[in-house]
Amino acid sequence: MKQTDRNAPVGVFDSGVGGLTVAREIMRQIPEERIVYFGDTARLPYGSKSKDTIVRYSRQIIRFLKTKDVKAIVIACNTASAYALETVQAESDIPVIGVINAGARAAVQATHNGRIGVIGTEGTVGSGVYTHAMKQLQPEIEVFGQPCPLFVPLVEEGLFHDFVTDEIASRYLNVLKGKYIDTLVLGCTHYPLLRSTLRRLLGEDVTLVNPAYETAIELKELLMTQGLNRDSAVPMEGEQYQFYVSDLAEKFTDFATSILPNEVRETKKIDIENY
Ligand code: DGL
Repeated sequence: MKQTDRNAPVGVFDSGVGGLTVAREIMRQIPEERIVYFGDTARLPYGSKSKDTIVRYSRQIIRFLKTKDVKAIVIACNTASAYALETVQAESDIPVIGVINAGARAAVQATHNGRIGVIGTEGTVGSGVYTHAMKQLQPEIEVFGQPCPLFVPLVEEGLFHDFVTDEIASRYLNVLKGKYIDTLVLGCTHYPLLRSTLRRLLGEDVTLVNPAYETAIELKELLMTQGLNRDSAVPMEGEQYQFYVSDLAEKFTDFATSILPNEVRETKKIDIENY
């Protein structure tokens, strides 16, 4: 592991706006840290693409983030975590974490009846990584996956509370209700924005696990144990939070401002294919 500046930013990336739910948790839980966020808005969705493609995209994004001298990277996308985390971790000289292990751990801790549902993109659910991660922790756990491909476009259209979203969510969740799960992992970065709909449809007896929340805790611990946590006495140079996308910077800025605690003033567009 190379010598890294503990006051450098953390790199966070996703296929688009979804990873902002992870960035938001990092901002809440480790407010002293700086973040460079990249959303691959030109090439989303990731959820329906192949593993090879997602590994290639992730490598390019990591090369870009390294030009910003980040000290650690969070893959704030379930699909990219599922497909690329192991590969890029093995190649990287700085710590890289994904969202899946933290979510899997929290779900295993939360369940009482050992029956856990996982909702996510086709890629994440199809990869079986959540099932694998949870069974490693507790082999007798039963995991029921349900892809919810229509949730991402509904969230991107801002339809967090809408009868169309209710109808589609009911269809997806009915499959899981029949499995008597007591815990549900929101295994896609967009889904925490549908939390109140999911809560209403599932009732109070099902624990909802938000891997974004757990990932921020994991990042905080990682930075502390590796001596990479920012020294808040050192003055902040430049913007604390920087945002980059591969397309549609203004649309991203509007969405980010609507879900983050502070206004996002600027998003820069870069050509990710150059990295
Ligand atoms: N951010 C992705 C995830 O968490 C969902 C959006 C996409 O398919 O690109 O899996």
